[in-house]
Amino acid sequence: MMDTEQFFAPEQYVTDEFTIRSYLPGDGALLAEATSASYEHLTRFMPWAKPHIDETEAEQIVRRFRGEYLLNTNFVLGVFSPDGKRLLGSSGFHLREGELDNRAAEIGMWIRANAAHKGLGTRVLRAILTWGFSEWPWERLTWRCNEENVASRRVAEKAGMLLEACFRGNIRLPDGTRETTLAFAALKEEWGGGNR
Ligand SMILES: CC(C)(COP(=O)(O)OP(=O)(O)OC[C@H]1O[C@@H](n2cnc3c(N)ncnc32)[C@H](O)[C@@H]1OP(=O)(O)O)[C@@H](O)C(=O)NCCC(=O)NCCS
Repeated sequence: MMDTEQFFAPEQYVTDEFTIRSYLPGDGALLAEATSASYEHLTRFMPWAKPHIDETEAEQIVRRFRGEYLLNTNFVLGVFSPDGKRLLGSSGFHLREGELDNRAAEIGMWIRANAAHKGLGTRVLRAILTWGFSEWPWERLTWRCNEENVASRRVAEKAGMLLEACFRGNIRLPDGTRETTLAFAALKEEWGGGNR
């Protein structure tokens, strides 16, 4: 069992194309810009999306993310341009598969509108999986998406995750219709870098 009090989460993963790291105080302006510029792109599958998030609200959000990160309760990650001046998207390891000592987490992701559909989401997911299975304690990483979210589904497939389940009509929307969730996973013992 892992002593969660003694787990210090890794801070960042750097590639030539992006840096994935914990949000820090001061990142609010970049988060506000990226989410406000991506509202139309995000709103279909991201329930939290709003047409405009101001910098103060976004600063509160990144500070909460940082607090959760340090407390080992939720690991939200920003995907930044190499110079740190643009937020390209967001990801994270979310403890939706048990406590930290279960060593399993769900990966979430969005990519800003003008960086999406160029293969970036797939490269970020591969990086998150590679980082997650090397420097983090994860032995199982999952990905869930609406069946109609073709881009999300494709990203999971291209990154080498396997479809494990289809939860038919498991989400009820306010208008009474139901949506179906697909669940993908990758296991540390079989992770080979997602070159399928
Ligand atoms: C889902 C998301 C993270 C994927 O990142 P991305 O950088 O756009 O993905 P990629 O460019 O690496 O790959 C997208 C794949 O989906 C395919 N695709 C199919 N329909 C698509 C659509 N409507 N829009 C975009 N891509 C689509 C693309 O063709 C591509 O596959 P291919 O390489 O086989 O052609 C990003 O589009 C996004 O932020 N969407 C809105 C938020 C969201 O839905 N997040 C996921 C929640 S589970």
